Amino acid sequence: MSSLNPSEGIERLIRPDLRDFAGYSAHTSPETLKDKIDVPVEDIVKLDANENPYGCSPRVSRALASCSNFNIYPDNGQVLLRQSLAEYAGIDAGHIVAGNGSNQLIDLILRLFVSTGDEVISFTPTFGIYGFSTVLCGGKLVEVPRNEDFTVNIAAVKTAVTDKTKVIILANPNNPSGTLTPQQDILELVDSGIPVLVDEAYYEFSGQTVVPLVSRYQNLMVLRTFSKWAGLAGLRVGYGLFPPKVADILIRTKIPYNVNVAALVAVQESLKDVDYLMGTVRAIVAERERLFAGLEKIEWLKPFPTQANFILCAVLHGEATELKRKLQDRAILVRYFDQPVLKNFIRISVGKPAHTDILLRTLREIGG
Ligand SMILES: Cc1ncc(COP(=O)(O)O)c(C=O)c1O
Repeated sequence: MSSLNPSEGIERLIRPDLRDFAGYSAHTSPETLKDKIDVPVEDIVKLDANENPYGCSPRVSRALASCSNFNIYPDNGQVLLRQSLAEYAGIDAGHIVAGNGSNQLIDLILRLFVSTGDEVISFTPTFGIYGFSTVLCGGKLVEVPRNEDFTVNIAAVKTAVTDKTKVIILANPNNPSGTLTPQQDILELVDSGIPVLVDEAYYEFSGQTVVPLVSRYQNLMVLRTFSKWAGLAGLRVGYGLFPPKVADILIRTKIPYNVNVAALVAVQESLKDVDYLMGTVRAIVAERERLFAGLEKIEWLKPFPTQANFILCAVLHGEATELKRKLQDRAILVRYFDQPVLKNFIRISVGKPAHTDILLRTLREIGG
């Protein structure tokens, strides 16, 4: 019987496999640094979460300021939202489901396919939520290590697949390396017949997509987000392109009203302002090249080529944790990952030109 004996803790009743669950190691929120850094929170140079430094479309801010229906639940079926996303992505609305950030869709998809003891393959180092949600489903993440240059070793997948493999997940471009996997390699994964989830969170920065293939394959799913290119990370809205049968069941298994009214308004306004937003994407891509060239000149750092809005750098002298801490003391936030394979790396999001200038100057001052 699962009842509580008053002399024992409630944790006895919690699923044993989750009692010591480590959780997701998120980046540091600036407001938590208020008393630790000498500059006001708004002056912190935030290059740690791949956010859009130019913010959202001004249309979004204006529309939200005059929005008066926050007291009304959003449309659970996402009818208008799915239609608008269909136009943007160039695919029928029946393929689309939106989520509270694409994180929620990763979680929903894994819940759909993964039961206790099942396996999910991913290409590491990669985005931490894949392992996070796999474990929450009682599954096991099978890590296929990327090559030294962070490209994917497709041949290694064949030996990693077992009869327990339920999903293969590929971030394209990959986070944190920024590496793109060519379409023909993705098709090899799809040929396995196992459900393949391609996470295109950074699509607008890379320009490469497999969305046109979604209607051709029964086992190909693609995720996108408004967090990066559209500057809506704080409103949490992402979407996925699925075979219609999968979309249909996701609509039924998702938590009701998972995309809130503010996010719905923000998506509609963003989609009316794609030219403006893609202008900020182009500015970020241009800045990425300048930042890359600047980082290459610092002899104790090795930046890796990237197709996203961030750059992974190997720290060749000294400790990456120490570098992150020294930058944070000077009010510059970059991302460090507490994982053995990324022990000597930091990831730097591309900011505005002034952010690049401050970062490069500070790196030179700190030295190796
Ligand atoms: C590869 C990848 N997928 C998904 C996400 C999550 O995006 P969202 O804000 O839509 O949940 C991120 C965010 O960093 C990411 O890097």
